[in-house]
Parts: sequence; structure tokens; C-alpha cells
Amino acid sequence: MGNWKSTVMLVLMLVAMQSFQAYSYGYLWLSIDCGATNTTFDEKLNRAWTTDNEFIGSGENKLVSTSSSFPQMNTLRIFPSGIKNCYNLPLEKESKYLVRAGFYYGNYDNLKKPPAFGLEVQSGNINVNVLTSLSSDPIYHEFIITKKNALDVCLIQTQNNQIPFISTLEVSSLDQRVYRLMNNSIALYLESRINYGANQSVPDRFPTYVDIYNRIWKPEEVSTSRNLSLGIGSTSWDTSENNPPNVVLDSAIEANNVSESIFLPINFREKSLVSAYFVLYFDITPAYQEGEARRKVAISIDGQLLNITRLLGIGRCVTVSIFPVIITGGTANLTNSPAEGATSPALLNAMEVFSVISSADRVVGTFFGISIVLFSWIAYWI
Ligand SMILES: *[C@@H]1O[C@H](CO)[C@@H](O)[C@H](O)[C@H]1NC(C)=O
Ligand SMILES: *[C@@H]1O[C@H](CO)[C@@H](O)[C@H](O)[C@H]1NC(C)=O
Ligand SMILES: *[C@@H]1O[C@H](CO)[C@@H](O)[C@H](O)[C@H]1NC(C)=O
Ligand SMILES: *[C@@H]1O[C@H](CO)[C@@H](O)[C@H](O)[C@H]1NC(C)=O
Ligand SMILES: *[C@@H]1O[C@H](CO)[C@@H](O)[C@H](O)[C@H]1NC(C)=O
Ligand SMILES: *[C@@H]1O[C@H](CO)[C@@H](O)[C@H](O)[C@H]1NC(C)=O
Ligand SMILES: *[C@@H]1O[C@H](CO)[C@@H](O)[C@H](O)[C@H]1NC(C)=O
Repeated sequence: MGNWKSTVMLVLMLVAMQSFQAYSYGYLWLSIDCGATNTTFDEKLNRAWTTDNEFIGSGENKLVSTSSSFPQMNTLRIFPSGIKNCYNLPLEKESKYLVRAGFYYGNYDNLKKPPAFGLEVQSGNINVNVLTSLSSDPIYHEFIITKKNALDVCLIQTQNNQIPFISTLEVSSLDQRVYRLMNNSIALYLESRINYGANQSVPDRFPTYVDIYNRIWKPEEVSTSRNLSLGIGSTSWDTSENNPPNVVLDSAIEANNVSESIFLPINFREKSLVSAYFVLYFDITPAYQEGEARRKVAISIDGQLLNITRLLGIGRCVTVSIFPVIITGGTANLTNSPAEGATSPALLNAMEVFSVISSADRVVGTFFGISIVLFSWIAYWI
């Protein structure tokens, strides 16, 4: 009798845990292996990659001749005819979505001529040039958008004799509260997402290194700072703003002493004027807890002081979001300094940098404003 009851309890608990997990993982997580003939299961990441047949009616399936270490990169769909070929992806509800397109040429045509072409998302609101290469690393273009119903992702031929292709397409829904400073009139383009002080990418394998929103965190060690790493992964994610994975918070870079700053140059895709969105994550893990009483940092971008934050203490992540920041010339210099009264060195665990790419109105507005000033100035001198 007792056994029977505990079995029922166990089953109920498992069901409850399953539904909680399904809920917390969001509503949609599409992983499409373009050009594949069969759905495959990715053991490392614990998810299925589906074929693309049901999302597009044009193009041809190809296999690479130089294999990638990512199996899903070894098939691709090419578009030899038509200027514009589109995937149509069903979305279940209005939400924020992460959209990532992957490109791996792999010399599929044995011509050693990696093509350049256009990628268009959301009916032309988002448009980027894709430059492929002979490198063994896939190229990704990633966006955060707000959308309902359906999403178009199009490959555009921009040059004669250069055939557009795509290798992977991923969409995951995000909690509405994530990246809270963006609204549905803008979209974000990912410039970089860095896991400081780490030597491994996240996700690396399931279940140790996961991200609930399917984000990829690239490792980076900085020559002028100390690399702090626990070297082990925590399986869960943090509940603070934007839910960074705990494993990302387990490593950091730290200034050499309490009076030094951390300088980080950041490159942007566009060399022209862009509006940028920065997110910085700070956490203190038990590995480096001495003298944590006064860890206080000041963040400046291109010499402009934008935030002063007191860190909370061990295992309590502080997320600092800064938007909008106007960037010119394709680079920004971020400085993370000890704030007045700090008794511990400045540190940084992770950072994401986005540029705004679909606020056409606002950029046009800025140029319009500048033109009016110029015109008045010219008129004044005439
Ligand atoms: C794909 O599935 C078909 C039918 O199940 C099978 O015959 C074929 O070998 C599979 N192809 C690959 C590449 O696994
Ligand atoms: C959306 O955000 C942009 C940038 O902060 C702002 O200019 C715009 O007014 C906002 N739009 C709405 C509808 O809130
Ligand atoms: C941190 O790692 C980088 C890259 O491996 C290295 O150049 C640097 O010397 C390391 N910092 C320290 C203080 O060891
Ligand atoms: C990363 O660093 C850890 C700790 O220093 C080390 O054990 C591990 O082998 C390194 N991994 C790689 C891929 O270099
Ligand atoms: C901090 O480090 C820098 C460079 O390593 C050094 O010049 C400076 O004297 C140090 N300051 C303190 C307070 O130790
Ligand atoms: C960033 O720093 C570099 C090197 O110190 C400098 O050449 C560049 O002009 C700076 N960029 C901006 C936008 O301040
Ligand atoms: C700095 O960031 C913190 C954490 O997000 C926020 O609470 C604070 O208001 C910000 N300060 C300024 C001056 O923007």
C-alpha cells in the first residue's frame, strides 16, 4: 500500500517537474538543419534538429566537402534561382524571439569561392550582408525581435554568380521581461556576447552548460586582466535580469589591483552611426571572495560615465543595462573602473553588445536633423 502511494506521488512530482520545465523553457524552440534530409538528434545539446522542407519550397539540398565539427553545418540549402528566397516560420504568440542564422560554406561546390549575399528578416526591416569564408568556423547572424504570427527569413542574391545559401536557422521565444529596454519598434543585432575569463564556449554540452534562451556565450581571456575561473559548471541559470547561465557567471576578469581599470575595445559591424544596447553582468563567486565588502564599479563608454553600481555579494548577480548609446566609427571603448570608495578591484563576468537595426525612422530622423542644421548654416553664410 505504502509503495503504491509513493509511486503515485513520484509520478505526480515528475509530471509537475516536466510541466514546470516546459513552461520555463518558453513556448517555442525551433532548430532547423537547412538542407538536411533527416531529422537528427543532437546528443551534446539534447535537442532535435528538424529538416527545413516544411518551411520553404525553393532551393536545393547540398552536402559540404570539408566537414565541420558541428554536424548540422554539414548540410546546406542553396538558392541558384530567384533573387529572393524566403523561409516562413510559424510563431505561436506575440513575444520577443531570438533568431539566429548559421552559414558554413564548407566548399560544397568544390570551387573554393565562398559567396557574399544578403539576409533579410521581418519583411526587410532587418537587412545584413553575409560574407562567408573558407574558415572552419561557421558564421552566425543573430537578432532579437518582437513578433507575432509568422516570421520571414529571406536569402537575397546581391551579386552576379554568387549563390546564397543557409546552413542552420534557430528561433527561440524569450520571456517578455528579458532585454527590457527594447520595445517592439526596434530590433537588436548581436555584435558580441562574451563570457569573460573563460576558456570554453557556452553551451558546450548538455546538461552542464545550458542557456534557457539558446544564447551562445563566447569565451574570452583578456591579457591585461586576471582571469578568474572556477573551472566547473553549475547547471542552472540565474534569476536576475536576462537570466544568464550560472556557468557564465562562474568566471570573470578582474583588474590587477584596486586602482586599475579594465579597458575593453568593442567592434561594431557598421562603421557608420549606430545606436547600441549594452548589458553587463557582475557576480562574485566563492572562488574570489576576499574583501568583497566594497566592490563598486563605474562604467564609461567612450569617456562618458554611464553607470555606477555596487555589487551585491557572493552568488547575487547584478545586471546593468545601458541603452541607447550612440556609437560612431565602428568601435567603442568601454572602461570598467573602481568607483569612489571601492576597496576591491573592478571585475566583469559577462557582457552582451547589440546594435539597433530596425529603427530606420530614428536614424533617418537624426540625419534629417543634421541636414537641417547644415542647411541653416550654409544659408547663414550665403
Ligand atoms: C534518412 O532516413 C531514411 C529513411 O528513414 C534512410 O533510408 C536514410 O539512410 C537516412 N539518411 C541519413 C543520411 O541518415
Ligand atoms: C521604443 O524605444 C525607442 C528607443 O528607446 C523610443 O524612441 C520609442 O519611442 C519607443 N516606442 C514606443 C512605442 O515605446
Ligand atoms: C589571462 O588570460 C590571457 C589569455 O590567455 C593571458 O594573456 C593573461 O596573461 C591571463 N592573465 C593573467 C593575469 O594570468
Ligand atoms: C580551461 O581551463 C580549465 C581550468 O584552468 C582547464 O582545466 C581546462 O582544461 C581548460 N579547457 C580548455 C579547453 O582549455
Ligand atoms: C596597480 O598596478 C599598476 C600596474 O600594474 C601599478 O602601476 C600601480 O602602482 C598599482 N597600484 C597599487 C595601488 O598597487
Ligand atoms: C578608443 O581607444 C583607442 C585606443 O586608445 C583610440 O584610438 C580610439 O580613438 C578610441 N575610440 C573612441 C571612439 O574613443
Ligand atoms: C546602474 O545600474 C543599476 C543596475 O541595473 C541601476 O539600478 C541603476 O539605476 C543604474 N544607475 C544609473 C546611474 O543609471
